[in-house]
Amino acid sequence: MGIGIAYVAAKTAGVQVVLSDRSQQQLTKGLQFVDSLLGKEVKKGRLNNEEASRVRGRISAAGDSVEQGAFGEVDLVVEAVAESLPIKQAIFGSLATHLPPHAILASNTSSISLSTLAASAVNSKTGESRARQVVGFHFFNPVPVMKLVELIPALQTDSSVLDVARGFAERMGKTVTLSADTPGFISNRLLMPFINEAIITLETGIASKEDIDTTLKLGMAHPMGPLQLADFIGLDTCLSIMKVLQDETGDSKYRPAVLLGRMVAAGYHGKKTGRGFYSYT
Ligand code: CAA
Repeated sequence: MGIGIAYVAAKTAGVQVVLSDRSQQQLTKGLQFVDSLLGKEVKKGRLNNEEASRVRGRISAAGDSVEQGAFGEVDLVVEAVAESLPIKQAIFGSLATHLPPHAILASNTSSISLSTLAASAVNSKTGESRARQVVGFHFFNPVPVMKLVELIPALQTDSSVLDVARGFAERMGKTVTLSADTPGFISNRLLMPFINEAIITLETGIASKEDIDTTLKLGMAHPMGPLQLADFIGLDTCLSIMKVLQDETGDSKYRPAVLLGRMVAAGYHGKKTGRGFYSYT
């Protein structure tokens, strides 16, 4: 999602963006995707060549270099790595150490507690906590198309930080909703049990995957059926969000479908791996 966020920040909000990823290959792929999106905008007459190259000129790639000063002048960082608490905690520790003192540390997490992440935003050189500058900034895929950002303050977040984050989301052309720091926030507290129930509907033989998806698409005007949407989001992501809901609430209604766990164990993670409930080869 990071590349979609970068694209909208550069194109709609008009700000300079620095991309960082541990994989150079992902950065190259991301920049190629930006080029293809801009190419499409030009082809459709929504941008001219000059405007497209101005947008492209605002995006640079800095490799995996938080420590090397590449973020020395940033005002806001949006972390969008995998849904893993230890990975995100390590990144927030590093950001708290190397970012300019005023910078906001936002996370695109879809379910992990912001108050927990904020507690790890400690400058390792000075021991100073930057928890008050941490905020949840949750986008939806595909970021250039979906109009929402869910804002989630940690218990520690300063209200001025929340105001700046809201202003920036609006400058990106998004509508903002505000959620308490609770498992799954608004979006995934509602969406994931729905997807999970669709998987249980499939595994208990109530209907075929096509009929489940068609029912929701044609009967309820959803753009994608829940199984197709699960493939699109990533089955590994769906499973980790269900586990957060289950672990943090202790409520059995959030038990992940057995089939979901088996699919992830088999490496069928959805569209990104070429196979999920459907095949993408
Ligand atoms: N990046 C940028 N633009 C994209 C895109 C992408 N990855 N994928 C599609 N688009 C654009 C297309 O270019 C097209 O734009 P134009 O109309 O301007 O030409 C537009 O979206 C529509 O695309 P298509 O005609 O190819 O296909 P479609 O009409 O079937 O729409 C869709 C595709 C927008 C993905 C639609 O199926 C949809 O809305 N699906 C549901 C998406 C959804 O629910 N997302 C939320 C997932 S949950 C999440 O992200 C967060 C979480 O915490 C789990």
